[in-house]
Amino acid sequence: MAPLATTLLRRITLVSALALAATAVMAHGDVVPQAVDTKDLPPLGEAWRAENPYRSNATAVRIGASAYNQNCARCHGLEAISGGIAPDLRKLDNDCSTLKVAAKKAACVKEIDDYYLGSVRRGKVRNGAVYMPPFEGILNQEAMWSIKAYLETRREKPL
Ligand code: HEC
Repeated sequence: MAPLATTLLRRITLVSALALAATAVMAHGDVVPQAVDTKDLPPLGEAWRAENPYRSNATAVRIGASAYNQNCARCHGLEAISGGIAPDLRKLDNDCSTLKVAAKKAACVKEIDDYYLGSVRRGKVRNGAVYMPPFEGILNQEAMWSIKAYLETRREKPL
């Protein structure tokens, strides 16, 4: 290969390596869970909701985006684009998107809400290994659902 081409190739490889390293660092972000200010949202009370009460609520999406970045992005990736450490949450309700009957689609989305809330409240702990820490007691219900409202804006497949 001509010397110029070789130099160029080396440069490109170096730049990509640096970009990858930067992504890895950013994807991990803050390690300490962050409290989320949810006072601008309608309060939800003590009982856990079965379905996201904040769907398409712009305030919830804004608060949820910031709450996601502070608490989830270090594992699930910035803007919910997983780097492979943890599941890509843009795909969470992909299966619902192919359903044609409106009632079935609504039931599917509700089921995913339930699975989402359980995952966030209890985390993912199996045989003593913590794959994801529980967030109950760290995030309130308002914060958990606002993160879901944000994730719904990041869906890989529109409903
Ligand atoms: C320490 C890393 C870590 C953090 C922080 C974390 N997660 Fe997770 N999460 C994981 C891993 C790993 C899994 C897959 C666990 C398994 O193997 O079952 C997972 C699974 C999930 C699932 C189930 C996904 C599926 O496809 O089954 C949801 C929903 C979820 N996380 C949401 C969140 C939300 C919301 C936050 C922030 C409030 C969060 N996670 C913070 C690592 C993390």
